Amino acid sequence: MEHVRLNNGTTMPYLGTGTNTYGKENNDYNGDLNGDFSALESAIKMGYRLIDTAISYRNEAGVGKTVKESGIDRSEFYLTTKIPPQDDYVKDKQTVRKTLNQSLKNLQSDYIDLYLIHKPIEDEDKLKLTWEVLEEFVGKGKIRTIGVSNFTNEDLEKLGQFATIKPAVNQIKSNPVEWNNEWIKFMLDRDIRPQAWGPMKTTEQHRDVLAEIGERYGKTWAQVLLRYQTQRGIIVIPKSHDPKNQKANLESLDFLLSDDDMKKITQL
Ligand SMILES: NC(=O)c1ccc[n+]([C@@H]2O[C@H](COP(=O)([O-])OP(=O)(O)OC[C@H]3O[C@@H](n4cnc5c(N)ncnc54)[C@H](OP(=O)(O)O)[C@@H]3O)[C@@H](O)[C@H]2O)c1
Repeated sequence: MEHVRLNNGTTMPYLGTGTNTYGKENNDYNGDLNGDFSALESAIKMGYRLIDTAISYRNEAGVGKTVKESGIDRSEFYLTTKIPPQDDYVKDKQTVRKTLNQSLKNLQSDYIDLYLIHKPIEDEDKLKLTWEVLEEFVGKGKIRTIGVSNFTNEDLEKLGQFATIKPAVNQIKSNPVEWNNEWIKFMLDRDIRPQAWGPMKTTEQHRDVLAEIGERYGKTWAQVLLRYQTQRGIIVIPKSHDPKNQKANLESLDFLLSDDDMKKITQL
């Protein structure tokens, strides 16, 4: 597995699995929890170690249980979770501490690799106190790396005014429908690592072009797309319920696109 170095000196895998519909009826984001984590079990067996969950997915505990029951040492995994911006989780420091401790409990671990603020917290005082508690947990060794998600450039600048620890990652939407390249450049220029959520969103036209490029490498449209992102420094967390696709996504890391093909994909 290829790893990327973050601005705090730690490394994380370039590719992981999303989980936002795992453990739910009909693989539906809003579906009732049904405890079915077979998709995550299959991903882990295949070699996925970066696992992306969130409090709002309601499945942290199921993810923690599946990781534990895999029998693989905790140190081999890279677990990400996220704190929602609502008052229930961030209204004061005690509430934030309670939220983070609950994540540790759910994930059955004494540390979390990457903890993100899921969405911008509009109230500046609450943003500040949440970040301070995240920094406090880094100090205690309970969280290794802290970052954000869906933070605009302005949100990042606001955070930068008081953060003692700089965010290492900003998880944002990036796919051929919406690359968000200006945003990505802003982050890369400041050594904040972009991570792409929703990476598979494409139109038929995009898939045709990607598939045509893939023919030269014996790769599918999906593998070309994921490779494009990782090759330009973006971490990806595609989610699949299909073991064939999970395997294909993992195998997107075993080839390199030519500069010409990289340019073609940028212009999609
Ligand atoms: N921070 C945020 O605000 C935020 C927002 C959304 C998502 N996320 C995170 O990002 C993760 C990924 O995003 P997502 O789940 O929304 O969407 P996604 O990974 O872009 O797309 C998932 C879809 O792609 C299909 N797929 C996956 N691999 C494929 C392949 N090789 N070939 C063809 N189809 C393939 C899956 O179908 P099959 O199941 O049939 O393979 C599924 O329908 C989430 O699970 C979550 O962890 C974060």
